[in-house]
Order: sequence, then C-alpha cells, then structure tokens
Amino acid sequence: MSKHTVAVMGLGVRGKIHIHGLLENPDYYEIVGLCDIKQEALDLVSETYHLEHVPQFLDAEEMLKATRPEVFVFVTYPNLRLNMIELAIKYGVKAVSLEKPMAESLQEAKQMVNLCHEHGIKAVVCHQQKYLSQFQRMKQKIEEGVIGDIRKIHVETQAWFSQLGTHYVDYTLWINGGYRAKWVCGHVHGPVSLEDTHPAPDYLVGTMELENGVRAYIECGYLSEAHNPPEYSSSDNRLTVYGTDGYMYAETDGFWGACTKETNGRLVTGKDPGWRNHQQVPIQTPYYTEFAQWIEDDSKVHSCNIDTAYHGYEILEGMCLSALNNVRVDLPIQDLNYTPVFERMKKDLPPCGSKKLWIYTGQTPRKERD
Ligand SMILES: NC(=O)c1ccc[n+]([C@@H]2O[C@H](COP(=O)([O-])OP(=O)(O)OC[C@H]3O[C@@H](n4cnc5c(N)ncnc54)[C@H](O)[C@@H]3O)[C@@H](O)[C@H]2O)c1
Repeated sequence: MSKHTVAVMGLGVRGKIHIHGLLENPDYYEIVGLCDIKQEALDLVSETYHLEHVPQFLDAEEMLKATRPEVFVFVTYPNLRLNMIELAIKYGVKAVSLEKPMAESLQEAKQMVNLCHEHGIKAVVCHQQKYLSQFQRMKQKIEEGVIGDIRKIHVETQAWFSQLGTHYVDYTLWINGGYRAKWVCGHVHGPVSLEDTHPAPDYLVGTMELENGVRAYIECGYLSEAHNPPEYSSSDNRLTVYGTDGYMYAETDGFWGACTKETNGRLVTGKDPGWRNHQQVPIQTPYYTEFAQWIEDDSKVHSCNIDTAYHGYEILEGMCLSALNNVRVDLPIQDLNYTPVFERMKKDLPPCGSKKLWIYTGQTPRKERD
C-alpha cells in the first residue's frame, strides 16, 4: 500500500486537529503541503508537528499547483468550500475532506455534490463527533436491542443550526440506520445569528418522518434546553433516542444517560471525556482511517460521506422553507430555483429579543450568556 499524499489548508483550531488525525495514520498519509494566509499559523504547525520539511504556502492554488496531492483537506469557514472543490478538480485531486457546515446554501451544497460525482472525487464532511465513546456505545447498545425498537429521536443544540445542527442531523440519520427523511416541517425565528460567519436563524424547531417510520424532532438555538452549566453552552447538545423499551441519550461534552432493560427501567447517568478533551480524545484518527479505507475500496463508503451530509443539510433547509412558506416540505427538494433561505430571512425575520449564546471566533468561543 502506498501512502496518500495530502495538502492541508486552514491551520486554525480545527486544522491542527485534522493534521493530528492524519499524522495518527502514518501508514496511510504523507503531508506534502501546508497552507494558511497567516505565516504564524504555518510556522506554529510546522514546529508543533515536526513538519519543517513540508513546503508552506500562503495561497491554496499555489499549493495544489506545486504539490499535486491526491487528497486535499480544507479547514476554513463555510464561505470557502465550493471554490476549494473547484480548485481540487482543476488540479486532479481524488479525495477531499472539509469541515461543516458544508455550504451557506442548499444550492451551493448541491453544486458541490454534483461536482464531486461528475469528477469521481470522494468527499467527507467532518461530522466526526459520532466517534466519541458515548455515541459509539449508545449506537452499539441500541443495535443490541436494549431500548427495543426506535420510535422517536430528539435533538437539542444550544448553538444555532449551522454550528451544531448539521452535526446532530447527521447523528440522527446514523443512529437510525441511515433511513432518509420523507418530509419535514419547521419554525424559525431570530435574525441575529444570520450575520455570523456560520449564518442561521437564532432558533429552529422542526420535525420529520424517516423512511422506517421513526419521528425525529430537532431544536437548535437559544431556546433549546440547557442541560449543563453555562461554561458548556457552546457545546450543550443532546441526542435522545426513545424506543419501545426505554431511552438513551448522549451529549457532545461526554454526558450520557440510559433508562433501558439493562438498567431495570431506572435512569443511569454518567460522563465520558467528551468534546472538552477533543484535542486529546483521538476521534479525528478513526475519521481519517475510514477515509483512507474508502479511498482504497469503493465499497467502504465513509460514514461522513458528502451525500449523507447533503441530505442532513437538505433536512434543515426544508425546515427553513417550511417555516418561510407555511407548508410541509417533501424530500428530496427537487426544485432549487428559489431565493436562498438566509437571504429571505435577513429581510423577513423581525427582531424579537433573541440572541446568540456566544460568538464563534475559531479560537475560544466568547460566552454571552448571563
Ligand atoms: N467538526 C467539528 O467538530 C468542528 C468544531 C469546531 C469548528 N468546526 C468548523 O471548522 C471550521 C474551521 O474552524 P476553526 O475553528 O478551525 O477556525 P479558525 O479561525 O481557528 O481557523 C481557520 C484558519 O483558516 C485560515 N484561512 C482563512 N482563509 C484562508 C484562505 N483563504 N487560505 C488559507 N487559509 C485561510 C485562517 O487564517 C485560520 O488559520 C469552521 O467551519 C467550523 O464550523 C468544526
């Protein structure tokens, strides 16, 4: 097996974690190029990860032109995704890895998916929290039948949906065995977060029916219930799965609960290391192992593949359309020829005293909660 050459662009908080995940798979990858618009970010990564031998670039196209990598990892904000896929195509890249949310509109997300399909590019979107131990265990236990048959799924994320909602829609589909959504309905309000680098309304609540009859309920934003102390607000999220014989939940920060046949109907709770330790908990490592396995074998499709990510985005977009048009939205959304939903919301959503709980800085989220 030869190693896959990788060029990485965007060396901020998450970029470093992607580098760590690639380096933890030394049999699969060789990093051949590093890119950031900030020289200090390049120098810090070269030094921290002993990559002084890897060429540095201040421009992504220059890097791709010079290094011609097989894999392109870009870890920037959602406004820099479609154009990176276009560059990947121009320079013959075979596989791309990008961060969430995958785009700023469904139209753009569709273009990205189509381009990847047309050019045979394997693409993954980083919904990697499913590798956290509390999520893996919950999935395994549910598959073993400890809650009986799944009936309902409830998602709560305190962050607005382009921050954490796309993660949790992905985990909803994953925990339920990959069944797609048939229809969605939704409500949105609050224009403040539409101005964020990750735009979305301040609050969204939506419901959907999945192909196996399971109902899922999604709440994202400031009105979602807080389960943990305020210092957890940026990642205070919960996925609860209800079955015929009990329920289980798991949260980003490691908290979990189980009321199942195994616990004799009593709610047992606990805490795994969780997201706070994500620099130490090696969830980016299996993400990149799975990616290499997919690159080498078409049948081993990655659990964070771009088609599933698109469907998750489509679900949230459908909830927005339902709210704006006062209709049920049947999936897949066939006609994408409409004004992008965030553009409409910026015009139509009235101020209503809603707020963001924190501001995404890429470094430490600044808390705004009282
Ligand atoms: N998957 C997850 O669990 C998770 C968690 C947090 C953030 N994220 C996502 O990761 C993405 C990146 O977030 P972050 O925290 O690393 O941000 P960050 O601000 O820390 O890092 C972004 C880096 O990209 C660089 N950059 C910007 N424009 C560039 C360009 N044109 N060319 C080269 N480099 C450029 C910046 O200089 C910076 O170093 C965001 O979309 C965010 O939503 C994902």
